[in-house]
Amino acid sequence: MGTVTLINNETGEKFDFDLIDCTRGPKAVNFSKLFETTNIFSYDPGYGSTAGCESTISYVDGKNGKLLYRGMPIEEVVSKYKFTDVAKLLITGEAPKNEKESIEFDLELRHRSFLHEGLINIFSAFPDKAHPMANLSSAVAALSTFHFDSKDDINDYQVMARRIIAKITTLVAFSYRNSVGAPFIYPDISRGYVENFLYMLRAYPGGRLKYTINGEEEITALEIEALDKLFILHADHGQNASTTTVRNVASTGVHPYAAISAGINALWGPAHGGANEKVLDQLREIGDVNNVDKFIQRAKDKNYPFRLMGFGHRVYKNYDPRAKAIKALKDELDKKGIKMDSRLSEIAEKLEEVALNDDYFKERNLYPNVDFYSGIILTALKIPVELFTPIFVIGRMPGWCAQAIEHITNPYARITRPRQVYLGE
Ligand code: ACO
Repeated sequence: MGTVTLINNETGEKFDFDLIDCTRGPKAVNFSKLFETTNIFSYDPGYGSTAGCESTISYVDGKNGKLLYRGMPIEEVVSKYKFTDVAKLLITGEAPKNEKESIEFDLELRHRSFLHEGLINIFSAFPDKAHPMANLSSAVAALSTFHFDSKDDINDYQVMARRIIAKITTLVAFSYRNSVGAPFIYPDISRGYVENFLYMLRAYPGGRLKYTINGEEEITALEIEALDKLFILHADHGQNASTTTVRNVASTGVHPYAAISAGINALWGPAHGGANEKVLDQLREIGDVNNVDKFIQRAKDKNYPFRLMGFGHRVYKNYDPRAKAIKALKDELDKKGIKMDSRLSEIAEKLEEVALNDDYFKERNLYPNVDFYSGIILTALKIPVELFTPIFVIGRMPGWCAQAIEHITNPYARITRPRQVYLGE
């Protein structure tokens, strides 16, 4: 504990505010009664110095480049669990205790992966070429018209969370197939979570995968492992823009799927999850390692609205641990047989090398973030670029659900309603 004293230099009045000891990281000052006691409010655009909630789900240590899920370092989570286990860990606070619990949760998701036939019709209303993120946020909002669970206790929210975690892969696959005019491939419950997603993306009508001279192509164990790890690395990340959006919308008491739909829209922006798509566009535009210096100069030029996509982060002032893990995964997969596009990989590594040795990037602590290397792996997995951000949605879904549940079930949580610094007439 402890206090902070605020002195109003205009009036000489002094006010004490309690300090909160967070279990990790710096202390927070409790300003919840600031306005009530002082008739002054705080101004913090972008909320860089403001916590809007208490949370026990994930912890981002931006100074040291560490990330914890439910207290466990992300590196340990990735090596120990598969994505569906991590989903359970995030939404319930406990990973499956044994193989049986892990399988039971996985099976529950398989059986919940189907969509109401009425919901499927919604896709036919969307024009071809619509971005899958637009289709996806609309379809998730529409999901709330098909499922009216009571919201009496935590179990109801758990059911809602499991349902949307299960269905999001189907919704992403259908959004994509709709955008390219391909017929939908329904889930196959004999396949696990990640394999089923790749199957729904890749299969031909009749449910067969591509035929080659060697017979029917398989979805390999290595591909499944690669995507599973990517999902885990995206699963939660403190109070980022989309999670904050989910919490803000959920704070009004709306249907949780409407809050998740809002989160999907927030994620779409290129300053947030939409950056993974833009990174790949940028790597392709750079085209050659010899052009890297020119683009780095452009990123530093304040007269030019160009930023190095996949670089920089509000919280990390050190290497993003997710970017580190994804870069290592890229190299590991390449060695094991999932061949990366060597030109894109070389350009990305050169960009990183030049930026990390450049004063502009060093002074501002700009490092690669989660979006910098993920697209190279996704490309090697034959995933089209417009699906990169929807894939982020799949990974982040357990985190959004966990955060929404935490917010809705907190009896002290209030509707989000900040003030404004009014400068108008
Ligand atoms: N390229 C060039 N300069 C940059 C970059 C970048 N990628 N990122 C930040 N800067 C510069 C800014 O111009 C600013 O410089 P200044 O102090 O001279 O004005 C300084 O670094 C601080 O940047 P801010 O925009 O104030 O930092 P903020 O915390 O508000 O933004 C953000 C963070 C949005 C991630 C930013 O770094 C960015 O736009 N990065 C590129 C987009 C991106 O990769 N987004 C994904 C983030 S991860 C995620 O959300 C999943």
